[in-house]
Amino acid sequence: MATVGNKGADQFLPAKLTLPALRAAASRCQGCELYRDATQTVFGDGIPDARFMLVGEEPGDQEDKRGEPFVGPAGHVLDRALREAGIDRSAVYLTNAVKHFKFEPRGKRRIHRPPTVAEIEACRPWLEQEMRLVDPEVTIILGATAARALLGPGFKVTEQRGEVIPREGDAVYVPTVHPSAVLRADDRDKAYADFLADIKIAAGIHGKPARKARRSAR
Ligand code: URA
Ligand code: SF4
Repeated sequence: MATVGNKGADQFLPAKLTLPALRAAASRCQGCELYRDATQTVFGDGIPDARFMLVGEEPGDQEDKRGEPFVGPAGHVLDRALREAGIDRSAVYLTNAVKHFKFEPRGKRRIHRPPTVAEIEACRPWLEQEMRLVDPEVTIILGATAARALLGPGFKVTEQRGEVIPREGDAVYVPTVHPSAVLRADDRDKAYADFLADIKIAAGIHGKPARKARRSAR
């Protein structure tokens, strides 16, 4: 089989840049090697003009099987925090920086591996298009991979979590840790409380009239 190599997702973008067209095109992406072993592309999901967009790392085992983002254990932590912060999960757009599950087989299990910088870069065109089309007021960055994809190298979520970072116009990023870090923490209650505090900061940001007018004009 010919090697496609890490040429990136750009060459797989559809002519018409709409979310449904992007989703269909991403299902055939071979922009890096990760498509080979994964079950399917897990594209973003949710409301096309959501106020809140949440960006994770990559699908996990269950997301890979079901084809939807954040439906496994990390998703349950996220669901709880969204609920407790007063954000309706059905009113957000959820996605990942990298659209295929990366893993190492170990017996019958598949152990999650973090994406490399090259894989994050290869996959970025999909995320860029999702950001452009959804154009959320608040983008919640979940962990280092999403921060790398959206804010570049050098940004440390552990140091800047809970900050409100300007994106464009009145839109902002709010970075926090990944919900799976909450599950791995020694003190899970504390880690969850800190995570929830960041999500509440995002939940408390209210749209300015100028931006609302622009959004409803589309
Ligand atoms: N972790 C992520 O970053 N994304 C998912 O969709 C699931 C787990
Ligand atoms: Fe394409 Fe991203 Fe999957 Fe790589 S991880 S094959 S760039 S969709």
